[in-house]
Amino acid sequence: MTHRVTLRPSGRTFDNHPGESLLESALANGLPVDYGCSNGNCGKCRARRVEGEVTRLRHSDFAFAAADAAAGWFLLCCHGAATDLVLDTGVALDSGDIEWQEIDVKVRKVSAIDASATLLHVQTPRTRRLRFLAGQWARLGRDGVSFELPIASCPCDDRNLHFHVSPGSDLLDALRAGDVLRLSGPIGDFVLDAESRRPRLMVGAGAGMAPLKSIIEHSQSLDGDIPVWLLLVEDEPGSHYLGNLLRSWRDALDTFDFAVATSDAVAAAIDGFAQGGGAAPADCDWYVCGPSALVTRVTGHLSRLCIPPAQLHAEAV
Ligand code: FES
Repeated sequence: MTHRVTLRPSGRTFDNHPGESLLESALANGLPVDYGCSNGNCGKCRARRVEGEVTRLRHSDFAFAAADAAAGWFLLCCHGAATDLVLDTGVALDSGDIEWQEIDVKVRKVSAIDASATLLHVQTPRTRRLRFLAGQWARLGRDGVSFELPIASCPCDDRNLHFHVSPGSDLLDALRAGDVLRLSGPIGDFVLDAESRRPRLMVGAGAGMAPLKSIIEHSQSLDGDIPVWLLLVEDEPGSHYLGNLLRSWRDALDTFDFAVATSDAVAAAIDGFAQGGGAAPADCDWYVCGPSALVTRVTGHLSRLCIPPAQLHAEAV
């Protein structure tokens, strides 16, 4: 039987299905709870039962002190819900909540998305996944060569990590499925404000679309009812490699829409969104990511629209 789980103090909720650990359910719902090994050794996924009962799913080598166990502490990765639950456990809200990680990952796939971008799909070991927030980057390297890339996939799948790479990278050109890379991270403060309930408006171009893709996917997994609007900036109409994905999201999701503008028409497009019945710009959270000239132009325009600084997230790539 499926049970409802509420986390304190965030108030976030998710469903736990039979046979699924509470950690698996939380992550599948995009909730970045603290964890490490996923198999009952490190103790990082500890939570405290406030209401309800849990059931043990697997053995754990980690031992709580008797007083802690009596107070209701247990491991999310080793237990499922036996009833609806209220739990005390932290959820990472900003980059400072997540520790630096180094993981050997395996290349699963290197495949062209189109002539301008290649998908690099790497997979972590089952017991050592990358904890990160939507919008963050990671460093990938081997043999003394490394480069940093934004993660293009959702933290709700913390094992399968996608990167979008421009052709011509020496490291990328030599990669084959099965190769092992050292992944380090996460990096960066350009992250989804998961606590906000304001509409999420995004302006992106070029390589800036990779972190925005991660943010949009995480937003949908966490808060499918919060509107997300994306302004895709491209100077050659129809040229962007994510065009098909954006159209499929628009068809499938009630709360997602996007528009396209050239870089010269970005300010007018933002003004048009507000005048066309969208939320007032100052009542929204803004995420801007792309070439630095575009980011400067857009953030300057948004500042003139009196967007509170805490609602304006920007990163040049
Ligand atoms: S994640 Fe390590 S014990 Fe649960």
